[in-house]
Amino acid sequence: MILLGASDTELRRGAELLKMGKLVAFPTETVYGLGADAFNTRALARVFEAKGRPRFDPLIIHIARFDALDRIVLFEALDGRRRTLLDKIAASFWPGPLTLVLPKRKEVPDLATAGLATAALRFPSHPAAQALITLSTGAVAAPSANPFGRLSPTRAEHVIEGLGDKIDCVIDGGPSAVGVESTVLDLSVSGPPRILRYGGIGREALEAAIGPVEAPAAAAGEDAAGAYPQGGRSSPGTEDRARSAPGNLRGHYAPGTPLILHGSDALAYSVYRGGEGYLFFSGKNRDAFVGRNPGASALFVLSEAGSVLEAAANLFELLHRLDRLGLDRIHAEMLPQEGLGAALNDRLSRASAGSLLPPPGKYT
Ligand code: TXA
Ligand code: MG
Repeated sequence: MILLGASDTELRRGAELLKMGKLVAFPTETVYGLGADAFNTRALARVFEAKGRPRFDPLIIHIARFDALDRIVLFEALDGRRRTLLDKIAASFWPGPLTLVLPKRKEVPDLATAGLATAALRFPSHPAAQALITLSTGAVAAPSANPFGRLSPTRAEHVIEGLGDKIDCVIDGGPSAVGVESTVLDLSVSGPPRILRYGGIGREALEAAIGPVEAPAAAAGEDAAGAYPQGGRSSPGTEDRARSAPGNLRGHYAPGTPLILHGSDALAYSVYRGGEGYLFFSGKNRDAFVGRNPGASALFVLSEAGSVLEAAANLFELLHRLDRLGLDRIHAEMLPQEGLGAALNDRLSRASAGSLLPPPGKYT
């Protein structure tokens, strides 16, 4: 595996590797992606293999110019209303942490889209990602660069730790600024656009720009009580869930250490146990806990000031760090369910389910 920086020459080299069908992990503003040429089926197959990802879970295709959509999206299948919506959304949120599900052209390989009639598209804002995409083929399929089901990578070292021996190249562009994956919004449906996965763009911001959007409970982190079977595919049952992002499994984003999730601001009231780790939303909550449990250690804070934005940027890095300490358990608390808080609560509740499952290899 080659480790590169984000200089022009190094990005050019990474782009050459992508054109040759190699797997190149690269930084984006959300999390690191594991890139492959979206039109090279052999490279796509290797992405699934490297991640241990089931093939029913489609990939996001990354672009860095609007005209790249012409090769991928079947515009003829969109009515006027949805075309207007697409224009508005793209103008407001691209480049940025939003993925759009749109009808696809038949030339897009089935492997990229898991045989669906739609493709997921994202135009990332990270300059290194944009350069890499533009310098290569203009369409780069990239899931998050972590083993299937595990914590997402927000730094190059996370990628190397999880996938270093299975991929060809990692581009180190420093820590990801947003820290949670993109929001996935389905524009292929006939009703209002529908959030399939909460992420870097909050529901409130979307609604302010385009009016009402649907957000089924399956995307809202409200399925922790068991809407999804352990390690299985999206659950049977309501149409809502059947239409949710196919890869939105309960038990995703899991650390190796069991994670116990507490209510918002609730961790301050729990009793400290040695050998267990604590992840607080704010410095205030940690201080309240320490007031009741003097001498407690392995205490981590998502944002000293209680900022949800900062908490998002730190979430996966702190979970990676806690996971390396060899603790018996990690305790974390939920955040207020607004804006990015919804995405963080979604990741935490899936992490708390997944951390109690057997390692990914056993059920993929
Ligand atoms: O921020 C992100 O989105 C990152 C960076 C690298 O861009 N990528 C990422 O990819 O999170 P991944 O593969 O970990 O998650 C993609 C999600 C999955 O839940 C998948 O099921 C959903 O997008 N998805 C992809 N194509 C879809 C489609 N055609 N219809 C519905 N959901 C789709
Ligand atoms: Mg992922």
